[in-house]
Amino acid sequence: MLTELVIASHNQGKIAEFKNMLSPLGVTVYSAAELNLPDVEETGTTFAENAQIKAETLSSLTQKPCLADDSGLCVHTLNNAPGVYSARYAPNRNFDLAMTKLIDELKSSGSSDWSAHFSCVLALKIPHQPTRFYEGRVDGNITPNRRGNNGFGYDPIFIPQGFNKTFAEMEAKEKADISHRGRAVKLFLNKEFNV
Ligand code: IMP
Repeated sequence: MLTELVIASHNQGKIAEFKNMLSPLGVTVYSAAELNLPDVEETGTTFAENAQIKAETLSSLTQKPCLADDSGLCVHTLNNAPGVYSARYAPNRNFDLAMTKLIDELKSSGSSDWSAHFSCVLALKIPHQPTRFYEGRVDGNITPNRRGNNGFGYDPIFIPQGFNKTFAEMEAKEKADISHRGRAVKLFLNKEFNV
């Protein structure tokens, strides 16, 4: 049974989400910053590899169980770019520019297929156990006209399948119910905590 968990992220939003979810289950959650842990470089070529590198590095430094995630947007016509490079695709972390760049690339591809998916992989490393993985995915389409003010990153140009609105037009709860991260977290909670 997990009683403590290090979250391998410096993203305050993600850490708060995990604390909210796991504290009621009796888990003491530490952020990487609280334990003075370094930022781990994402040198992998898949979401799973990056999540694994982060979880295993911080677990070996702390000798505690550690949870890491990696996620991104895969645009099918662009050979699944930006994929694991979704954060780095944004010049100076400016996602407005990143969305313009993506839409320009789709327009110049000449393809009418603007389908895409978001992926999220969670890696859980418990000392002396093999790393366990939980993966979530949501399919949808890129729209050339950004809409909505909620969320972050590429949310204003992603319309999930079966909806007429972008992720940025959804309330947090509505997005979490169907999102890649929400789905990965549900699998994690179900398997590790039976909830
Ligand atoms: P990371 O998982 O923190 O490395 O983030 C990967 C990048 O993928 C983020 O910076 C966003 O650009 C993008 N991304 C991941 N999940 C989402 C999402 O739910 N909405 C919009 N963009 C996302």
